[in-house]
Amino acid sequence: MPALVIRQFGAAADVLEMDSAPMPKVGPGEVRVRILAAPINPADLNWIEGTYGTRPKLPATPGTEAVGEVIESNAAPLSVGTRVIFLSYAHGWQTDRVVRADELLAVPGDLPVPDLAMLKVNPATAWRMLHDFAPLSPGAVVVQNAANSGVGRCVIQIAHALGLRTINMVRQVSLADELQACGADLVCGDDEAGKEAALAYLRKQGVRASLALNAVGGESALRQLDLLEEGATQVTYGAMGRRPLTIPNKFLIFRDIRFRGFWLTHWLAQASSAEIAGTYDALLELLRRGRLHQPVDSLHPLPSFREALQRLHAADRKGKILFAPATEK
Ligand SMILES: NC(=O)c1ccc[n+]([C@@H]2O[C@H](COP(=O)([O-])OP(=O)(O)OC[C@H]3O[C@@H](n4cnc5c(N)ncnc54)[C@H](OP(=O)(O)O)[C@@H]3O)[C@@H](O)[C@H]2O)c1
Repeated sequence: MPALVIRQFGAAADVLEMDSAPMPKVGPGEVRVRILAAPINPADLNWIEGTYGTRPKLPATPGTEAVGEVIESNAAPLSVGTRVIFLSYAHGWQTDRVVRADELLAVPGDLPVPDLAMLKVNPATAWRMLHDFAPLSPGAVVVQNAANSGVGRCVIQIAHALGLRTINMVRQVSLADELQACGADLVCGDDEAGKEAALAYLRKQGVRASLALNAVGGESALRQLDLLEEGATQVTYGAMGRRPLTIPNKFLIFRDIRFRGFWLTHWLAQASSAEIAGTYDALLELLRRGRLHQPVDSLHPLPSFREALQRLHAADRKGKILFAPATEK
Protein backbone atom coordinates (compact mmCIF):
# COMPACT_ATOMS: atom_id res chain seq x y z
CA MET A 1 0.00 0.00 0.00
CA PRO A 2 1.66 3.32 -1.11
CA ALA A 3 2.44 5.70 1.77
CA LEU A 4 4.66 8.68 2.49
CA VAL A 5 6.76 8.09 5.60
CA ILE A 6 9.40 9.75 7.74
CA ARG A 7 12.09 7.75 9.54
CA GLN A 8 13.71 10.75 11.19
CA PHE A 9 12.69 14.32 12.05
CA GLY A 10 13.79 17.13 9.75
CA ALA A 11 12.71 19.38 6.89
CA ALA A 12 10.01 17.61 4.84
CA ALA A 13 12.06 17.86 1.63
CA ASP A 14 14.92 16.01 3.36
CA VAL A 15 13.13 13.28 5.30
CA LEU A 16 9.90 12.44 3.46
CA GLU A 17 10.06 9.20 1.44
CA MET A 18 7.67 7.20 -0.72
CA ASP A 19 7.19 3.74 0.82
CA SER A 20 4.95 0.72 0.63
CA ALA A 21 3.24 -0.17 3.91
CA PRO A 22 1.61 -3.61 4.58
CA MET A 23 -2.22 -3.82 4.27
CA PRO A 24 -3.58 -4.48 7.79
CA LYS A 25 -6.74 -6.63 8.21
CA VAL A 26 -9.97 -4.92 9.24
CA GLY A 27 -10.75 -5.94 12.85
CA PRO A 28 -14.04 -5.74 14.78
CA GLY A 29 -15.33 -2.16 15.03
CA GLU A 30 -12.92 -1.06 12.30
CA VAL A 31 -13.21 0.07 8.69
CA ARG A 32 -10.79 0.46 5.79
CA VAL A 33 -10.81 3.98 4.35
CA ARG A 34 -9.56 4.84 0.85
CA ILE A 35 -8.09 8.32 1.26
CA LEU A 36 -9.30 10.77 -1.39
CA ALA A 37 -7.54 13.97 -0.33
CA ALA A 38 -5.31 15.25 2.49
CA PRO A 39 -3.85 18.78 2.67
CA ILE A 40 -0.34 19.87 3.59
CA ASN A 41 -0.85 22.15 6.60
CA PRO A 42 1.85 24.18 8.40
CA ALA A 43 1.31 21.82 11.37
CA ASP A 44 2.31 18.85 9.18
CA LEU A 45 5.65 20.47 8.45
CA ASN A 46 6.21 21.08 12.18
CA TRP A 47 5.18 17.47 12.95
CA ILE A 48 7.74 16.23 10.40
CA GLU A 49 10.38 18.53 11.95
CA GLY A 50 9.56 17.16 15.41
CA THR A 51 8.66 20.63 16.70
CA TYR A 52 4.87 20.14 16.97
CA GLY A 53 2.89 19.69 20.21
CA THR A 54 2.99 15.90 19.75
CA ARG A 55 5.90 13.83 18.42
CA PRO A 56 5.11 10.56 16.63
CA LYS A 57 6.92 7.27 17.13
CA LEU A 58 8.98 6.72 13.97
CA PRO A 59 8.65 5.59 11.25
CA ALA A 60 5.35 7.40 10.73
CA THR A 61 3.05 8.70 8.00
CA PRO A 62 2.17 12.42 8.28
CA GLY A 63 -1.16 14.05 7.43
CA THR A 64 -3.20 15.73 10.20
CA GLU A 65 -6.48 15.58 8.33
CA ALA A 66 -8.05 13.78 5.38
CA VAL A 67 -11.29 12.78 3.72
CA GLY A 68 -11.90 9.28 2.44
CA GLU A 69 -14.45 6.67 1.54
CA VAL A 70 -15.16 3.47 3.47
CA ILE A 71 -14.18 0.54 1.20
CA GLU A 72 -14.47 -2.30 3.75
CA SER A 73 -16.49 -2.23 6.97
CA ASN A 74 -16.59 -4.24 10.17
CA ALA A 75 -18.52 -1.52 12.01
CA ALA A 76 -22.29 -1.45 11.48
CA PRO A 77 -22.99 2.30 11.28
CA LEU A 78 -20.37 2.93 8.60
CA SER A 79 -21.33 1.07 5.44
CA VAL A 80 -19.14 0.77 2.34
CA GLY A 81 -19.32 3.97 0.27
CA THR A 82 -19.78 6.31 3.27
CA ARG A 83 -17.65 9.43 3.00
CA VAL A 84 -15.74 10.17 6.22
CA ILE A 85 -13.25 12.56 7.76
CA PHE A 86 -10.81 11.58 10.51
CA LEU A 87 -11.33 13.19 13.93
CA SER A 88 -8.17 11.54 15.28
CA TYR A 89 -4.76 12.18 13.66
CA ALA A 90 -5.43 11.03 10.08
CA HIS A 91 -1.97 9.88 8.93
CA GLY A 92 -3.58 10.90 5.66
CA TRP A 93 -0.60 10.85 3.29
CA GLN A 94 -1.24 7.23 2.27
CA THR A 95 -3.78 5.48 0.08
CA ASP A 96 -5.64 3.38 2.69
CA ARG A 97 -6.02 3.34 6.45
CA VAL A 98 -7.63 0.81 8.77
CA VAL A 99 -9.13 2.73 11.65
CA ARG A 100 -11.69 2.38 14.45
CA ALA A 101 -15.09 3.66 13.31
CA ASP A 102 -15.36 5.93 16.37
CA GLU A 103 -12.37 7.96 15.13
CA LEU A 104 -14.33 9.00 12.04
CA LEU A 105 -17.15 11.41 11.27
CA ALA A 106 -19.53 10.57 8.41
CA VAL A 107 -19.92 13.56 6.06
CA PRO A 108 -22.20 14.14 3.04
CA GLY A 109 -20.92 12.60 -0.17
CA ASP A 110 -22.08 15.48 -2.37
CA LEU A 111 -19.81 18.24 -1.00
CA PRO A 112 -16.48 19.04 -2.72
CA VAL A 113 -13.71 16.61 -1.71
CA PRO A 114 -11.05 19.34 -1.04
CA ASP A 115 -13.42 21.29 1.24
CA LEU A 116 -14.12 18.10 3.20
CA ALA A 117 -10.41 17.22 3.34
CA MET A 118 -9.78 20.59 5.02
CA LEU A 119 -12.87 20.61 7.26
CA LYS A 120 -11.43 19.16 10.46
CA VAL A 121 -8.71 21.68 11.25
CA ASN A 122 -9.02 25.24 9.94
CA PRO A 123 -12.81 25.75 9.90
CA ALA A 124 -13.20 24.20 13.36
CA THR A 125 -10.33 26.29 14.72
CA ALA A 126 -11.96 29.47 13.37
CA TRP A 127 -15.40 28.43 14.67
CA ARG A 128 -14.19 27.61 18.19
CA MET A 129 -12.04 30.76 18.47
CA LEU A 130 -15.06 32.89 17.53
CA HIS A 131 -17.23 31.13 20.13
CA ASP A 132 -15.07 30.24 23.13
CA PHE A 133 -13.12 33.34 24.19
CA ALA A 134 -15.35 36.42 24.18
CA PRO A 135 -19.09 37.09 24.17
CA LEU A 136 -19.39 38.55 20.66
CA SER A 137 -22.69 40.23 19.80
CA PRO A 138 -23.54 40.98 16.16
CA GLY A 139 -21.46 43.96 15.03
CA ALA A 140 -18.56 43.16 17.37
CA VAL A 141 -15.12 43.55 15.76
CA VAL A 142 -12.51 40.79 15.55
CA VAL A 143 -8.95 41.58 14.44
CA GLN A 144 -6.65 38.94 12.98
CA ASN A 145 -3.24 38.62 11.32
CA ALA A 146 -2.30 36.14 8.55
CA ALA A 147 -5.85 36.87 7.38
CA ASN A 148 -5.24 35.31 3.95
CA SER A 149 -4.35 31.93 5.50
CA GLY A 150 -6.73 28.99 5.50
CA VAL A 151 -7.76 29.74 9.09
CA GLY A 152 -7.91 33.48 8.34
CA ARG A 153 -10.30 32.96 5.45
CA CYS A 154 -12.48 30.70 7.59
CA VAL A 155 -12.54 33.38 10.31
CA ILE A 156 -13.65 35.98 7.73
CA GLN A 157 -16.43 33.80 6.33
CA ILE A 158 -17.72 32.47 9.66
CA ALA A 159 -17.58 35.92 11.30
CA HIS A 160 -19.49 37.36 8.34
CA ALA A 161 -22.13 34.62 8.63
CA LEU A 162 -22.43 35.38 12.39
CA GLY A 163 -22.85 39.14 11.77
CA LEU A 164 -19.41 40.03 13.21
CA ARG A 165 -17.00 42.52 11.61
CA THR A 166 -13.36 41.68 10.87
CA ILE A 167 -10.17 43.70 10.56
CA ASN A 168 -7.76 41.63 8.55
CA MET A 169 -4.01 42.25 8.59
CA VAL A 170 -2.00 40.68 5.77
CA ARG A 171 1.49 40.85 4.31
CA GLN A 172 0.06 40.96 0.77
CA VAL A 173 -2.41 43.86 0.56
CA SER A 174 -2.98 42.97 -3.11
CA LEU A 175 -5.33 40.29 -1.72
CA ALA A 176 -7.72 42.92 -0.33
CA ASP A 177 -10.40 42.53 -3.03
CA GLU A 178 -10.35 38.74 -2.74
CA LEU A 179 -10.73 38.84 1.05
CA GLN A 180 -13.43 41.51 0.88
CA ALA A 181 -15.33 39.26 -1.52
CA CYS A 182 -15.23 36.60 1.26
CA GLY A 183 -16.80 39.09 3.68
CA ALA A 184 -13.82 40.94 5.19
CA ASP A 185 -14.81 44.40 6.47
CA LEU A 186 -11.31 45.92 6.44
CA VAL A 187 -8.11 44.53 4.94
CA CYS A 188 -4.85 46.32 5.75
CA GLY A 189 -1.13 45.68 5.72
CA ASP A 190 0.43 43.99 8.75
CA ASP A 191 2.64 47.01 9.49
CA GLU A 192 2.42 50.37 11.27
CA ALA A 193 0.54 52.00 8.35
CA GLY A 194 -1.94 49.10 8.44
CA LYS A 195 -2.42 49.59 12.18
CA GLU A 196 -3.16 53.31 11.62
CA ALA A 197 -5.73 52.37 8.95
CA ALA A 198 -7.33 49.93 11.41
CA LEU A 199 -7.42 52.56 14.17
CA ALA A 200 -9.04 55.04 11.74
CA TYR A 201 -11.67 52.41 10.83
CA LEU A 202 -12.43 51.77 14.52
CA ARG A 203 -12.66 55.50 15.29
CA LYS A 204 -15.11 55.94 12.43
CA GLN A 205 -17.24 53.06 13.74
CA GLY A 206 -16.96 54.33 17.32
CA VAL A 207 -15.80 50.93 18.64
CA ARG A 208 -12.71 48.91 19.57
CA ALA A 209 -12.05 45.27 18.73
CA SER A 210 -13.32 42.67 21.20
CA LEU A 211 -11.12 39.75 20.14
CA ALA A 212 -7.71 39.40 18.48
CA LEU A 213 -6.61 36.20 16.74
CA ASN A 214 -2.85 35.80 16.40
CA ALA A 215 -1.18 33.27 14.09
CA VAL A 216 2.13 35.12 13.71
CA GLY A 217 3.64 36.33 17.02
CA GLY A 218 6.33 39.01 17.47
CA GLU A 219 5.58 42.57 16.30
CA SER A 220 2.49 41.45 14.39
CA ALA A 221 0.85 40.17 17.59
CA LEU A 222 1.80 43.36 19.40
CA ARG A 223 0.17 45.56 16.74
CA GLN A 224 -3.20 43.96 17.45
CA LEU A 225 -3.17 45.04 21.10
CA ASP A 226 -3.63 48.77 20.37
CA LEU A 227 -6.88 47.94 18.58
CA LEU A 228 -8.48 46.11 21.49
CA GLU A 229 -11.03 47.37 24.01
CA GLU A 230 -10.28 47.11 27.72
CA GLY A 231 -10.57 43.53 29.02
CA ALA A 232 -10.49 42.05 25.50
CA THR A 233 -8.73 38.76 24.70
CA GLN A 234 -5.93 37.91 22.32
CA VAL A 235 -5.89 34.24 21.29
CA THR A 236 -2.60 32.89 19.96
CA TYR A 237 -3.05 29.80 17.80
CA GLY A 238 -0.06 29.87 15.44
CA ALA A 239 3.53 31.08 15.31
CA MET A 240 4.19 31.55 11.60
CA GLY A 241 6.70 34.37 12.24
CA ARG A 242 8.58 32.15 14.73
CA ARG A 243 8.99 35.18 17.03
CA PRO A 244 7.88 35.16 20.68
CA LEU A 245 5.19 37.46 22.00
CA THR A 246 6.74 40.08 24.31
CA ILE A 247 3.95 41.98 26.03
CA PRO A 248 4.52 45.55 27.28
CA ASN A 249 3.29 45.79 30.89
CA LYS A 250 0.78 48.56 30.07
CA PHE A 251 -1.50 46.15 28.22
CA LEU A 252 -1.80 44.03 31.37
CA ILE A 253 -1.94 46.82 33.96
CA PHE A 254 -3.96 49.59 32.33
CA ARG A 255 -5.94 47.70 29.71
CA ASP A 256 -6.45 44.28 31.36
CA ILE A 257 -5.93 42.46 28.04
CA ARG A 258 -6.20 38.69 28.48
CA PHE A 259 -3.84 36.33 26.68
CA ARG A 260 -5.01 32.85 25.80
CA GLY A 261 -3.97 30.02 23.51
CA PHE A 262 -5.96 27.62 21.37
CA TRP A 263 -5.04 24.17 20.05
CA LEU A 264 -7.69 22.19 18.18
CA THR A 265 -6.06 18.87 19.15
CA HIS A 266 -6.65 19.75 22.80
CA TRP A 267 -10.21 20.92 22.11
CA LEU A 268 -11.08 17.68 20.27
CA ALA A 269 -9.62 15.61 23.13
CA GLN A 270 -11.69 17.31 25.85
CA ALA A 271 -14.94 18.34 24.09
CA SER A 272 -18.05 16.17 24.44
CA SER A 273 -19.30 14.18 21.42
CA ALA A 274 -22.31 16.54 21.30
CA GLU A 275 -20.04 19.64 21.14
CA ILE A 276 -17.92 18.07 18.40
CA ALA A 277 -20.98 17.01 16.39
CA GLY A 278 -22.56 20.46 16.87
CA THR A 279 -19.43 22.23 15.62
CA TYR A 280 -19.07 20.09 12.49
CA ASP A 281 -22.83 20.18 11.75
CA ALA A 282 -22.68 23.98 11.76
CA LEU A 283 -19.60 23.99 9.52
CA LEU A 284 -21.12 21.46 7.10
CA GLU A 285 -24.20 23.67 6.85
CA LEU A 286 -21.99 26.66 5.92
CA LEU A 287 -20.17 24.48 3.36
CA ARG A 288 -23.49 23.37 1.88
CA ARG A 289 -24.66 26.99 1.60
CA GLY A 290 -21.40 27.93 -0.17
CA ARG A 291 -20.40 30.22 2.69
CA LEU A 292 -17.19 28.44 3.70
CA HIS A 293 -14.40 27.72 1.27
CA GLN A 294 -10.60 27.50 1.39
CA PRO A 295 -9.02 28.01 -2.04
CA VAL A 296 -7.02 25.14 -3.51
CA ASP A 297 -3.79 25.60 -5.41
CA SER A 298 -3.24 22.03 -6.60
CA LEU A 299 -3.78 18.32 -5.92
CA HIS A 300 -0.87 15.87 -6.22
CA PRO A 301 -0.54 12.08 -6.29
CA LEU A 302 1.70 10.77 -3.47
CA PRO A 303 4.74 9.98 -5.69
CA SER A 304 4.80 13.67 -6.76
CA PHE A 305 5.42 14.80 -3.18
CA ARG A 306 8.52 16.81 -4.13
CA GLU A 307 6.49 18.93 -6.58
CA ALA A 308 3.81 19.37 -3.91
CA LEU A 309 6.39 20.60 -1.37
CA GLN A 310 7.88 22.99 -3.95
CA ARG A 311 4.42 24.51 -4.62
CA LEU A 312 4.24 25.46 -0.92
CA HIS A 313 6.87 28.14 -1.57
CA ALA A 314 5.75 29.19 -5.07
CA ALA A 315 5.23 32.95 -5.47
CA ASP A 316 2.08 32.30 -7.54
CA ARG A 317 0.55 29.81 -5.07
CA LYS A 318 -3.23 30.25 -5.07
CA GLY A 319 -4.28 28.30 -1.99
CA LYS A 320 -3.82 24.98 -0.24
CA ILE A 321 -1.74 22.12 -1.62
CA LEU A 322 -3.33 18.70 -1.18
CA PHE A 323 -2.38 15.09 -1.81
CA ALA A 324 -4.89 13.00 -3.70
CA PRO A 325 -3.63 9.58 -2.52
CA ALA A 326 -6.20 7.48 -4.39
CA THR A 327 -5.03 9.00 -7.71
CA GLU A 328 -2.51 6.95 -9.68
CA LYS A 329 0.41 8.95 -11.09
N1 LIG B 1 -3.79 26.01 17.12
C1 LIG B 1 -4.52 25.30 16.26
O1 LIG B 1 -5.32 24.43 16.63
C2 LIG B 1 -4.36 25.56 14.80
C3 LIG B 1 -5.26 25.03 13.88
C4 LIG B 1 -5.09 25.35 12.52
C5 LIG B 1 -4.01 26.12 12.13
N2 LIG B 1 -3.15 26.57 13.08
C6 LIG B 1 -2.02 27.43 12.73
O2 LIG B 1 -2.52 28.54 12.03
C7 LIG B 1 -1.53 29.02 11.15
C8 LIG B 1 -2.15 29.15 9.76
O3 LIG B 1 -2.46 27.85 9.28
P1 LIG B 1 -3.12 27.70 7.83
O4 LIG B 1 -3.32 26.27 7.53
O5 LIG B 1 -4.29 28.60 7.79
O6 LIG B 1 -1.92 28.28 6.94
P2 LIG B 1 -1.79 28.62 5.40
O7 LIG B 1 -3.12 28.62 4.73
O8 LIG B 1 -0.71 27.77 4.86
O9 LIG B 1 -1.29 30.13 5.43
C9 LIG B 1 -0.08 30.48 6.03
C10 LIG B 1 -0.19 31.92 6.51
O10 LIG B 1 0.95 32.27 7.27
C11 LIG B 1 1.51 33.48 6.77
N3 LIG B 1 2.95 33.44 6.98
C12 LIG B 1 3.81 32.52 6.54
N4 LIG B 1 5.06 32.80 6.98
C13 LIG B 1 4.96 33.94 7.71
C14 LIG B 1 5.89 34.75 8.41
N5 LIG B 1 7.18 34.42 8.46
N6 LIG B 1 5.44 35.86 9.04
C15 LIG B 1 4.13 36.19 8.99
N7 LIG B 1 3.19 35.46 8.35
C16 LIG B 1 3.61 34.36 7.71
C17 LIG B 1 1.15 33.47 5.29
O11 LIG B 1 1.23 34.78 4.79
P3 LIG B 1 1.75 35.05 3.28
O12 LIG B 1 0.65 34.50 2.39
O13 LIG B 1 1.92 36.50 3.23
O14 LIG B 1 3.02 34.26 3.15
C18 LIG B 1 -0.28 32.94 5.36
O15 LIG B 1 -1.16 33.97 5.74
C19 LIG B 1 -0.37 28.04 11.23
O16 LIG B 1 0.56 28.53 12.16
C20 LIG B 1 -1.03 26.79 11.77
O17 LIG B 1 -0.14 25.93 12.43
C21 LIG B 1 -3.29 26.32 14.38
